[in-house]
Amino acid sequence: MTIRNDDDRRFADLLHHRSARLEQGDPITPPLVSAATYHLPRADVGGYVYGRTTMPTWDEVEAQMAVLEGAPCVSFPSGMAAISAALMAAVVPGRRVVLPSDGYYTVRLFAEQFLKGFGVPVDYVPTLAMGQADFTGAGIVYLETPSNPGLEVCDIAAVAARAHAAGAVVIVDNTTMTAVLQRPLDLGADLVVAADTKAPGGHSDVLFGHVAGRDAAVMARVRDWRKLSGAVPGSFEAWLVHRGMETLELRLSRMCASAQVVAERLAAHPKVRAVRYPGLPDDPSHAVTVRQARGFGFLIGMTLDSADQAEAFLAACPYLARATSFGATHSAGERRARWGDAVPEGFIRLSIGVEPVEALWDGIAEALAVV
Ligand SMILES: Cc1ncc(COP(=O)(O)O)c(C=O)c1O
Repeated sequence: MTIRNDDDRRFADLLHHRSARLEQGDPITPPLVSAATYHLPRADVGGYVYGRTTMPTWDEVEAQMAVLEGAPCVSFPSGMAAISAALMAAVVPGRRVVLPSDGYYTVRLFAEQFLKGFGVPVDYVPTLAMGQADFTGAGIVYLETPSNPGLEVCDIAAVAARAHAAGAVVIVDNTTMTAVLQRPLDLGADLVVAADTKAPGGHSDVLFGHVAGRDAAVMARVRDWRKLSGAVPGSFEAWLVHRGMETLELRLSRMCASAQVVAERLAAHPKVRAVRYPGLPDDPSHAVTVRQARGFGFLIGMTLDSADQAEAFLAACPYLARATSFGATHSAGERRARWGDAVPEGFIRLSIGVEPVEALWDGIAEALAVV
């Protein structure tokens, strides 16, 4: 896949984003500021005021994220806090919200329990059908591509053009790729939302999220939502994510390269019924991913014959954390039908971590041998 120079510059700039602002004796790393209140003899001259509005450690992680997104970012205490903020900032009374029927299920729960409750019409469209969907009357078209967990992909630029023609705002959940691998704002999206709990935090020790966007008015509403709802991230969490982001590109290089190796070997394995990975040339998501992304990601969908076989495989593999998340340093696996996702009973979402790939593969192969 093509590595573009402007991307490499961005990754280098991310690591040095504080450099130009530093003065003699300043710390190289951002200070972890936990103050809730700030010295405020006057109210009319700017500066930090109160920790619910903004504070130094958020500003640091947001500046760092902005380098990667190529757009201003607003940080949140979780991916869902970012997603609900974007939806609440962009929702238009009387206009439909179009959501993927096969994306992260908690977004559908939010829509069912809150948006619909306030009278907002909500429609669900499979990710693969977004390209042909009727967006008439839509206020928001929301995409998650590749989708979690099915790894279906839609053409962001093509869907965004049709959504805009219908007068809708386009929000893309970029969690499964991150801005290192895919930049939806460059493809026409209005807002990007992401769970930085996953690869950006990267170590399974922090919940975090952000919204990125280039429209100042919409981003002001996102910021207001955070201030007025009080859905604010903690400073330690912001600091941890800043630290995690410094190695994001490096970790993703290993994770994506290993995912390609593992996916190819799984696809050739007699005990594996099906494999989904956008990096496999015959995967339905391959062609669009080549066009719109810079890598194929670290998530693999693998299907074994039954729920029992899948659970036995997960129990037998020494290098798969049995956890309901992804994007961390350690590889992880989960049988998604246990949460009711519309996937086969034997479907496992694998998240490939940074283990040396041959050791990881040996662990996977040994576990497959005993199920
Ligand atoms: C694609 C996607 N978006 C959003 C979220 C929500 O993130 P968080 O758990 O940080 O709220 C998740 C969590 O798994 C996810 O997989």
